[in-house]
Amino acid sequence: SLYSEKNRPQYHFSTRRGWINDPNGMIFYEGEYHLFYQHNPYEREWENMSWGHAVSKDMIHWDELPTALSPDSLGTMFSGSTVIDYENTAGFNQGKEPAMVAFFTVDNPEKQIQCIAYSLDKGRTWTKYAKNPLIDSKAKWNSKDTRDPRVFWYQPGRHWVMVLNERDGHSIYTSKNLKEWTYQSHVTGFWECPDLFELPVDGDKSKSKWVMYGASTTYMLGSFDGKTFTPESGKHSYTTGSIYAAQTFANMPQSDPRRIQIGWGRIQQPGMPFNNMMLLPTELQLRNTKNGVRLRSVPIKETEQLFNRVGQWASLSDTEANAKLTTLQSLDRFRIKATLKLSHATSAGLSLFGQRILDYDLNANLVNGVFYSPEDMTSTELSVDIYVDRTSVEVFVDGGRYSYSMERKPVSTSKEGLRFWGNRIEVKNLELYTAKSIWK
Ligand code: FRU
Repeated sequence: SLYSEKNRPQYHFSTRRGWINDPNGMIFYEGEYHLFYQHNPYEREWENMSWGHAVSKDMIHWDELPTALSPDSLGTMFSGSTVIDYENTAGFNQGKEPAMVAFFTVDNPEKQIQCIAYSLDKGRTWTKYAKNPLIDSKAKWNSKDTRDPRVFWYQPGRHWVMVLNERDGHSIYTSKNLKEWTYQSHVTGFWECPDLFELPVDGDKSKSKWVMYGASTTYMLGSFDGKTFTPESGKHSYTTGSIYAAQTFANMPQSDPRRIQIGWGRIQQPGMPFNNMMLLPTELQLRNTKNGVRLRSVPIKETEQLFNRVGQWASLSDTEANAKLTTLQSLDRFRIKATLKLSHATSAGLSLFGQRILDYDLNANLVNGVFYSPEDMTSTELSVDIYVDRTSVEVFVDGGRYSYSMERKPVSTSKEGLRFWGNRIEVKNLELYTAKSIWK
């Protein structure tokens, strides 16, 4: 049946058929989460860029719908965002039904231009605006790589804001009616898929900061007055690996102000009629750390329904812990939570049939080759939450302060199965989970 192929991710979204890349137009509306995405409906390769579409009630179980936006005489459909035009600023609304308006880039051999379409039936069918394009940066700046409009309503100024990848970073435009846009400012040092949002620090709304976000998940913190983003920090990042072009849900209900992102998992699906996948939805939060305020990324609570805990232990030796792990190693999907305590400044981690899915070097302060310094420098402990699916591994370190993702290598039975490695380590806490499938 559908979704049961050998290398089909079992608890991550993938398309029935074809290629996917960036999440697009992510929005919550009338009880549904919408995930649009860069899609080639015909082949496993990047080509014929269209907007695919899936909907969900919980961000975990998805129903794939027909393609939302297909190439037209102007070009192919590149990445972008959606808004709900509650106040009918663009004039597309019909009766009580506010328009869902999609902003996207049209790509053709000559240039990239910003266009819109609207839907009056919850994103099922779309009408492209007759006077597209709205922004032509080739004409203005002679800028070719100009794409990925991210649009949101700025309540204090009562206007729309667009953040756009343009020239050497992200430009900000404003509009009163979603159609006519005025250039305002520019932030250098980003590439593709901008996002810009405000987050409370440590949950305290009186201490919020704005986050300027780029496709490689690098970000700057700062302030925003509706027209200009003023950075107060350099660029940071909290994650590495196969994640790219993450986007956050717009229009979250007032009762649930979480900032939830889904990232594109650049993970090959060998031999399958589809390619790539989406990573787990995570909540972005700002936290004070010893280095200043930083973003962290935590799998949303809705993911808990996917997992059944099959055992929990405290204070195990590595030999004892490895004996427990044998119950999971033949499964195609599972989750492991563990706190490792190192006896001295050495390396330790977890391997899966020879693939090092965790490699912590306490001496050089590296996690899987990337600098990581725990909050508490007097501790020799590292806590990890590891999600293994048929073709992917996602790891959240110290409650999401650092995370990474990677392809899961095909099982090599000549190598040892699932095991902790390292010199005299203690597994202070170990929790093992089996994982359900999201496909019916
Ligand atoms: C990022 C990106 C976007 C572009 C899209 C095209 O992965 O290059 O900048 O809109 O993919 O598929």
